[in-house]
Amino acid sequence: TAALPYANGPVHIGHLAGVYLPADIYMRFLRLKGEEAIYVCGSDEHGVPITIRAQKEGITPQQVVDKYDAIIKQSFADFGIEFTHYSRTSKPVHHSTSQEFFLHLHAKGLLEVQESEQYYDEAAQQFLADRYIVGTCPVCQNPDAYGDQCERCGSTLSPNELGNPRSALSGAAPIRKLTSHWYLPLDKYEGWLKEWILEGHKADWKASVYGQCKSWIDQGLQPRAVTRDLDWGVPVPLPEGKGKVLYVWFDAPIGYISATKDWAEATGQAPDAWEKWWKADDTRLLHFIGKDNIVFHCIIFPTMLHAHGGFIVPDNVPGNEFLNLEGQKISTSRNWAVWLHEYLIDFPCKQDVLRYALCSTMPEQKDNDFTWKDFQQRNNSELVGILGNFINRTLVLTQKYYNGALPAFEGKATEVDMALAKTLMAAPERIATKLDAFRFREALAEVMDLARAGNKYLADQEPWKLVKTDAARTAQVLHMALQLSAGLAVLMEPFLPFTSERLRQMLNLATGQTWWGGGAIDLLRPGHQIGDVGLLFDKIEDEAIEAQMAKLAANKVENAMVATAANPNPTELPKSTHTDAETPLTAMPLPHIGIEDFAKVELKVATIIAAIPVPKADKLLQLTLDTGEAQPRTVLSGIAQHYAPEAIIGQQVVLVANLAPRKMRGIESQGMILMAEDAEGKLVFVAPSMAVGAGAGVR
Ligand code: 2FM
Ligand code: ZN
Repeated sequence: TAALPYANGPVHIGHLAGVYLPADIYMRFLRLKGEEAIYVCGSDEHGVPITIRAQKEGITPQQVVDKYDAIIKQSFADFGIEFTHYSRTSKPVHHSTSQEFFLHLHAKGLLEVQESEQYYDEAAQQFLADRYIVGTCPVCQNPDAYGDQCERCGSTLSPNELGNPRSALSGAAPIRKLTSHWYLPLDKYEGWLKEWILEGHKADWKASVYGQCKSWIDQGLQPRAVTRDLDWGVPVPLPEGKGKVLYVWFDAPIGYISATKDWAEATGQAPDAWEKWWKADDTRLLHFIGKDNIVFHCIIFPTMLHAHGGFIVPDNVPGNEFLNLEGQKISTSRNWAVWLHEYLIDFPCKQDVLRYALCSTMPEQKDNDFTWKDFQQRNNSELVGILGNFINRTLVLTQKYYNGALPAFEGKATEVDMALAKTLMAAPERIATKLDAFRFREALAEVMDLARAGNKYLADQEPWKLVKTDAARTAQVLHMALQLSAGLAVLMEPFLPFTSERLRQMLNLATGQTWWGGGAIDLLRPGHQIGDVGLLFDKIEDEAIEAQMAKLAANKVENAMVATAANPNPTELPKSTHTDAETPLTAMPLPHIGIEDFAKVELKVATIIAAIPVPKADKLLQLTLDTGEAQPRTVLSGIAQHYAPEAIIGQQVVLVANLAPRKMRGIESQGMILMAEDAEGKLVFVAPSMAVGAGAGVR
């Protein structure tokens, strides 16, 4: 399984690197080994993030999930993430599966009912579950932490822990009101969890995953509510549960089971065909997730499965850490992300380049950083310079010397040949060992090392020189290089499936032909005719990378200026749980621009003649500027937390006068004023003392 993504936004490189790519690589590896395996996932379509997104976009929750389910599914397909089945938690099969699960636990008397006071928004007449309540994080003092989690420090929270709680719906302070809910008594399963995880999986689970589990268990587990007072979700299937739904973290992991049922049905299998995947003792269940999901997949869901009875529990949960972008946390709400669907517009057909770059920097043991420079370097030096170069030289020489037909290896092999053959024959096992241990970066490095060995072999043997003097040896060398190319086509498949397919076409190697078992390689027989030869990779130029960095920088500036207007409630809705810490403007990676770029900017000296707050936007002021033009200009500026409106009347500023007008909160902003950031992070005016209307510039 791979974590079901929330259908409240598209997916970005952090999701791909953390969860879906490793799971896809692993699954492809299992398939190549001939294992019987399935890979299920689907859209997570319940939970408060969905309803908040619906409110924000002015559409229904169903419209939200329909929209993002389609976008997410498309991105996965585009990047070659080959699920056996991708389902949705809004499907009837999921509703019935999770309701039956709940009823089974209820019938066994395993759920406790507890009455408690919970936050309630009187104006909205709604209980404030999870992300509907915001307040100050007790751990890091983030004033905008959610009732279930702080996005800044990553702490898992409950609403009662928040300081200064307020409703995300109305912003008002909530009252407390009695309600009753069903709880899963985790405390009663502590003994079982200790034995199963702390004693049973110390050696084989990742240290970070095991460590988080240990810390939860050591702190003592509490009963967890598995229902909520909400109207979007799977209804509680009991008369006394009217108006309540299952907690999204109760129903979502059951989504793995319902996805398996959905798959069995969609592929015309027997109604109980799903069961062996969840109930047979020799089935090995693996959950690929990010570190924010560890407790749910290692403690809560397994406890549910164990309590229910009849289900297996996960054998391993290879949770990854987080991927950062250019040194900063990926953030959906600040648009500090590389979105998969946008990447493909800018880099069409380069799915494998991203798969390669992300696998090479996968945050397996610790958080890791994606940078565009590294992406470029990996493409240009490694994919083009090593892998592409080796394949290209081999195939071009084969075309040239043998009209594309594999020459036979005749005569005695040299020591160098034997060493290369040995390296190649042992490669599947070396790669498999790494993959079995979920060490994807090292496994990929093994593949690249083979290409390196091939390059060195060609460089040392110099068939382009040999051909003039020694036809027999030239044939031996090209024979070896071609067998290695075929081996690479097979071994790279889990990592670079698109490239593997292209290379197979160039080699005229049928898709089914594999060689993961290792041993002597005879994928290509003497006389085998290769296909058309082309380049596997091409260079990515500096301009393409600078454009990406400029795009990020522009997002950053825009965020700083308009975040509040676009997102009037500052506590809203990051899609994932990656944190959203404020990053200073000065930390932005900015590419060089030419004078011709700067010359496009029109700067004008102006005076603020009026300033008023913008309703419901606590970072924005509406400024009226005298620019010396016939009409004063209106500019929305994100400085409300630094200046009182009355304090800046008469202030001189520099205006970016030809910025395209932009409407925010119904007001058209006609430019942007320049600000600088002082050492404490306060914004200060870039203040000339010149006649209004003068052009500003840099000399
Ligand atoms: O963190 C998330 O994005 C959740 N939607 C993951 C759910 S995984 C599973 F349990 F369904
Ligand atoms: Zn915090």
